[in-house]
Amino acid sequence: MFSRLQIDMHLKKVLYGRQRFTLQSWHSRSICLRLLAILLSGIIGLHLSSCDAVTGKVDYSTEKVLLDSNWAFHVGAVDSLKLFNDTSAMDKPENLGFQQVDLPHDWSITGPFDKGNPAGNQGGALPGGIGWYFKSFTLTENDSLKNICIAFDGIYRKSKVWLNGHLLGERPNGFISFEYTLNPYLNFDGRQNRLIVRVDNSEQPNSRWYCGSGINRDVWLIKRGPLYINQSESYFYSSTVSIPNNRQREYAQGSATLHQHLVLNGASATVKPLEIKLTLWDALQHKVGEKVERLSAQNSGVINTLDAEWPLNNLRLWSPAQPYLYTLQIEVTQEGNMVDRYRQKIGFRHFRFDSQNGFYLNGESTKIKGVCLHSDFGVLGTAYNYSAMHRQLKLLKEMGCNAIRTAHNPPAPGMLDLCDSMGFLVMDEAFDMWEKKKTKFDYSRDFKAWHRKDLEDQIKRDRRHTSIICWSIGNEIREQFDTSGIRLTRELVALVKALDTTRPVLSAMTETHPDKNNIAKSGALDLMGFNYKIDQYDSLPINFPNSCFIASETVSALETRGVYKNEPKDTIVYMPVGSQQKFANNTNGDWTVSAYDKVAAYWGTTHENAWRAVKNRPFIAGTFVWTGIDYLGEPVPFPFPARSSYYGIIDQAGLVKDVYYFYQSEWSDSAVLHLLPHWNWGKGQHVDVWCYYNQADMVELFLNGKSLGKRHKADGQKGDNEFHVSWQVPFLLGTLKVVAYQKGKAVKTTEVKTASAPSRVKVDVDLSGFRGVSGDLCYLTLQLEDEQGNSVPDNDRLLQFDINGQAKLVGINNGYQAELRSFQSEQYPTWKGKCVVVVRPETAKGSFTLNVKGQGISTGAFKVNFGK
Ligand code: GAL
Repeated sequence: MFSRLQIDMHLKKVLYGRQRFTLQSWHSRSICLRLLAILLSGIIGLHLSSCDAVTGKVDYSTEKVLLDSNWAFHVGAVDSLKLFNDTSAMDKPENLGFQQVDLPHDWSITGPFDKGNPAGNQGGALPGGIGWYFKSFTLTENDSLKNICIAFDGIYRKSKVWLNGHLLGERPNGFISFEYTLNPYLNFDGRQNRLIVRVDNSEQPNSRWYCGSGINRDVWLIKRGPLYINQSESYFYSSTVSIPNNRQREYAQGSATLHQHLVLNGASATVKPLEIKLTLWDALQHKVGEKVERLSAQNSGVINTLDAEWPLNNLRLWSPAQPYLYTLQIEVTQEGNMVDRYRQKIGFRHFRFDSQNGFYLNGESTKIKGVCLHSDFGVLGTAYNYSAMHRQLKLLKEMGCNAIRTAHNPPAPGMLDLCDSMGFLVMDEAFDMWEKKKTKFDYSRDFKAWHRKDLEDQIKRDRRHTSIICWSIGNEIREQFDTSGIRLTRELVALVKALDTTRPVLSAMTETHPDKNNIAKSGALDLMGFNYKIDQYDSLPINFPNSCFIASETVSALETRGVYKNEPKDTIVYMPVGSQQKFANNTNGDWTVSAYDKVAAYWGTTHENAWRAVKNRPFIAGTFVWTGIDYLGEPVPFPFPARSSYYGIIDQAGLVKDVYYFYQSEWSDSAVLHLLPHWNWGKGQHVDVWCYYNQADMVELFLNGKSLGKRHKADGQKGDNEFHVSWQVPFLLGTLKVVAYQKGKAVKTTEVKTASAPSRVKVDVDLSGFRGVSGDLCYLTLQLEDEQGNSVPDNDRLLQFDINGQAKLVGINNGYQAELRSFQSEQYPTWKGKCVVVVRPETAKGSFTLNVKGQGISTGAFKVNFGK
């Protein structure tokens, strides 16, 4: 399928990122150079990595090759005798019931959703089990002098990896990145090398939300030279960023000292000195500076380290508003031969938390306006994908969100790259539990044996990211209420501090009483994170004097996109009440919650209340809303068939709920005027109409051209507040329109119209996360429309999809929390008039046509051109 790409991947040296589909011309040059190098190495009897044909210099720099394509996969029992020993049988894994898959891969997501699945609806009601992955690859003699490793960005969970029958290791943690050295067991003579990965997600429940199953993040084959830069031990950070008062500029500028701690491992062929060249480029690839250090090479087996400082002036500073990144390159040479080369994006920024004024970024007081995110990619389950992640972050960025909490585990590394480049502040979280469990088979069972290694690996992997501003050692950890919490907190904080002193460490806690909270009592935290409990915010500075605070988790409001129930004004409805089953049956039987911001889990509150509490308290550095996006699992307040959360500001398909515009009106610089609900009601019905707006001092509502009066926020009307205005309007078929005025001048208009039955489909194409790289996706949002082109909000259709052209249908999602049809089905219903179709192009540039059919819908054929 991807033959050209596969050739490409075997040949190209990867310093960053993935492969484009096209074989570019410099690859051909690199093939020639390599052939020459191999020839030369044969002549002079050396195994060279690559050799410049003109200068004869050797290049041993690290190669990182994506190993995602063409794995064989099987879920359930396997004939392990054949799998491990019968190489000829494994030449045709399909005969043993294996199927071909590309990674990242989540086998649970194809379902079925079933009440009987042991994860329960808290875990998404999807199956777990044991899965086997098999992959073979060859290496050449040319590789035999290199240090060859396999690196997994993450496997959910309890993985074991074998190479050519030898167990390389096992890793229970489902979110951590890890690697194994392969050399002792590799064949370099052209024989196949056989990798087997066993993934055990059979013990359920092991999480409070859906985590997927399988090798759900990227896999890399890494080839390092004999002496190489140890990337996880090396680090680079900037300090003492000084920010001159230069507000007249359109961007912040400053000076910084760049600290470098470089670790070289392996064997140096000679004791000739090493030259270490640091080069810094700006975002336009202009060279900013260059610095050369020297290091005497040690003989084999000795670790070489270099600590150096580099003062830099006139830097553009990084911030969420202007995520300016430089590129730092480190080249290590010995007598002109390239020992290793490493590149890293780096931003310069200065931040500090303050016990009275919250948070400062680059000298400016800044509120952290964040959301919590689980790693959930809709129809892909937990299989990490660049385009899916990009789409989520883009939606949040447009909302005005400037921070992400990686609830409650280390994320895929690609997410952090995107946070660096798109501009998000990150709270990087390690654990949802320590020794005390939250679900029967969770990580608490492995904590004792693995927490040191897991936490250290996380910090070493992530500390190079500009976006990360704090480390969270745990979420709502039960040891808060046990004296062991003191010891464990001190131990975990010390582990982090030994590897990174540039960022504060916090824990996201619930106990606000200082005598009862053992994590706080440890005295080891730099930053106090509190979840919920907004009515106790004012007691925090009294209970924990001189501490810095962050609202590490807030809200937990509940909404289903597009569902409107006229709740009593001024009353928040807390759920669940009574038993969940009783509650669900008593209300509506369709497992939905109203999308007015009036409903919350009983430990939470509305979006407006939670934001007010943080906004008005300067000592609270900011908020992380639970959650940015709906995820599979934890469908409070309902039992099965509900199978995904109601907490998101955005639904699981990536379609925004109304409350998105509340945040946008408060958090962003975009002009907002949003009206809810839709305008399809029964005659005479009294409808609660809400309007979110900003950048205006007055709004006026019109029904079929007749003014229903001018209003502004917090003007004392019942049901209004400083965040929205509302009216109760007797329904009349037609158009409801709102006009925003600034100083008497109309500046913006929004309207909703009564729609009749759906007759066609409108498609919006989102290609913003498509780079032309294997695995990239295209998102198509479908909206049902009536004859007049009005959006239909309340009359759904089962649609039939198929695709012609250079693309494959990946899945369809409508965001409805109790939808039990598989995302991979070719027939899928809209929810409140909408659904999202996810398509994977198979070339870097081309086109496909999405064909859509449905009852009463004129058949649609939508052509999409993709690629540049
Ligand atoms: C919090 C918890 C989150 C999520 C949320 C739902 O207490 O930290 O993981 O469960 O509740 O309201």
